[in-house]
Amino acid sequence: MWNLAVAARLAAVQQLHRRPIFKANCVTFVSLMEIVKCLHLKARSEVYPCSAVLRFPVPDDKVDWAVPWTNYNPVDYTAPALLKQPSWADLPYRDEGELNKVLKFNQLDGDVDRRSHTGKYNLINGFPRNPCGRTGLKGRGLLGRWGPNHAADPIVTRWKKESGKTVTHNCSGKPILQFVAICRKDNKEWAIPGGMVDPGEKVSATLRREFGEETLNSLDLPEAERQGVKELINFLFEAGEMVYQGYVDDPRNTDNAWMETVAMNYHDETGESVGKLSLQAGDDAGAVKWMDIEKEQNLYASHTHFLHQLVKAKNAHW
Ligand code: BGC
Repeated sequence: MWNLAVAARLAAVQQLHRRPIFKANCVTFVSLMEIVKCLHLKARSEVYPCSAVLRFPVPDDKVDWAVPWTNYNPVDYTAPALLKQPSWADLPYRDEGELNKVLKFNQLDGDVDRRSHTGKYNLINGFPRNPCGRTGLKGRGLLGRWGPNHAADPIVTRWKKESGKTVTHNCSGKPILQFVAICRKDNKEWAIPGGMVDPGEKVSATLRREFGEETLNSLDLPEAERQGVKELINFLFEAGEMVYQGYVDDPRNTDNAWMETVAMNYHDETGESVGKLSLQAGDDAGAVKWMDIEKEQNLYASHTHFLHQLVKAKNAHW
């Protein structure tokens, strides 16, 4: 019953956007995982990150905005850090009238991209509405932008090897893929070394910058070495494959602000280029390592889901 209900919801959402949420070039079929993801679970986790704020509980059958719910009373929360008006965030506005006048939603607003990968999002009383449904919290929470907040995730991979030979898994018999993982300083969770797209920045530049800063500590390297690292990254990142583009089930999401990302794969088939890099955590990363990809991993936000898409495409162990 439940699966049928969520499948119907997915179909309704796809119909709403008049195109698949999960792009055909990234995902070849809609698996149960994707349907579940559409019900964003982490975005409804009880305690809002870095706070003691509790979300208004939203059951699965009430996630969809199309389901009427008169008693829905989301908590209003914007983190104190945002009220200090950091440069990476929208300014606080007195009311929705002002918000709507100043910010240009569903378009490129100066240097800030307020378009969503999921299509055109609705504005309700001037506020952008989360395209994947209710989260139990309104306002911006920890997110800087009203509406979509854009990130980019570089998935750098190689085949696991021992004594020069590719290692296959005992059960599946398939080769094991490894990716460069970081342990995030903010919540101690393992993740892809992604980050936010700066205003005016191209996604391709964000991918390179974040990988350099978080896994090669490029910010702290002497100028001469930094140049070498930059060249290596440019070489590796010349050819990438898109793994995912769209909404992310992130614990920071709210009814009015949410994360979206573009995840790209850069694969070192022989393990001779980036596979040999000496990794060093920097910036937002507390630790960095090559991690075997397997289904038991519980990574930050929807990162396990991105890796699953990649493993399927490469016919690697899962
Ligand atoms: C992270 C990305 C992640 C995105 C959405 C960003 O803060 O750096 O790795 O995909 O949030 O969760």
